[in-house]
Amino acid sequence: MRADELLAWRQGQLQRGGSKADFDWLLEFAGGLGWSQLQRLRLDPGQGVALGCGLAEIEALWGQHLTAATPLQYLVGITPWRDFALAVGPGVLIPRQETELLIELVQALGLADRPGLAALRWADLGTGSGCLAVALAQLLPTSLGLAVDCSEAALVQAGANLQSHGAARVSLRRGSWWQPLKPEWGLLDLVVSNPPYIPTSIWRQLAPGVRDHEPPLALDGGVDGLEALRAIAAGAPQALAPGGWLLLEHHYDQSQAVQALLAEQGLEAIQPHRDLEDHWRFVSARRPTLAGERPLPVPGDQPAAESVAGGSHG
Ligand SMILES: C[S@@+](CC[C@H](N)C(=O)[O-])C[C@H]1O[C@@H](n2cnc3c(N)ncnc32)[C@H](O)[C@@H]1O
Repeated sequence: MRADELLAWRQGQLQRGGSKADFDWLLEFAGGLGWSQLQRLRLDPGQGVALGCGLAEIEALWGQHLTAATPLQYLVGITPWRDFALAVGPGVLIPRQETELLIELVQALGLADRPGLAALRWADLGTGSGCLAVALAQLLPTSLGLAVDCSEAALVQAGANLQSHGAARVSLRRGSWWQPLKPEWGLLDLVVSNPPYIPTSIWRQLAPGVRDHEPPLALDGGVDGLEALRAIAAGAPQALAPGGWLLLEHHYDQSQAVQALLAEQGLEAIQPHRDLEDHWRFVSARRPTLAGERPLPVPGDQPAAESVAGGSHG
């Protein structure tokens, strides 16, 4: 097919509705035609171009997206996240870009440089697609990881993603938050979680593509959005190792509430962190060490962040 024919066909598909960005995403991930290649077609409209699948297939997927608001990631079955691709399907949250920052916060802790890394044990609570677990396995390759979810669909998807990314040192556990990790209580050096935190009334008003297709279990955090965060904070002092870190994602207006939940549990070094849009979306905290306990040695400083007193959205 000639480039100008493909460009005219693309124009026709856009006239059916939807956004250019979404259609070009579909062209890239279903058809294998990336954005920069698309730009090159405009410069030389006479050149030949071949897609990785038939035009009719893309037309059908685009139609499903337009009529039922089905997320393109579910239709194509993959989503890019950080520097890798993850398989995703209905029943599992599509990993969001802002969650990538949790991994940056882990990097800032300097755990990868820690001597004796082999002994480091981490957990991902509410693993979903396994995005955080895959990234942690790559960042801390000789550590032991535990990926928890109460959803069978999530664990199946996370297992497939961990396997395809060679994350052999990560085990899956089914159950609610800390409960399936009971054998490791007191031994977890690092715990990350992006739990459901959207207040129910807000979840009900989300765009249909999210509300009607992504699992409510992954999004709906109860009346005030804090149900899961409360449960996670409550179990942290018992489950974390002395000096062990907890890193949480939360809604843009929950920073102070989450910090207060962690402070109530006696955690220390509580720090809020912003997302790329400057909203306070993450909190890190550490379990203190008691007399006689050996703290986790963490080289380097804590992640840089302004204190909540400096003007949180919470
Ligand atoms: C916001 S999603 C996060 C998924 C993934 N970590 C990510 O960042 O894309 C929250 C996850 O928590 C899981 N979840 C909800 N309630 C849970 C519970 N009580 N115990 C364990 N996991 C739970 C959901 O199934 C979902 O996979």
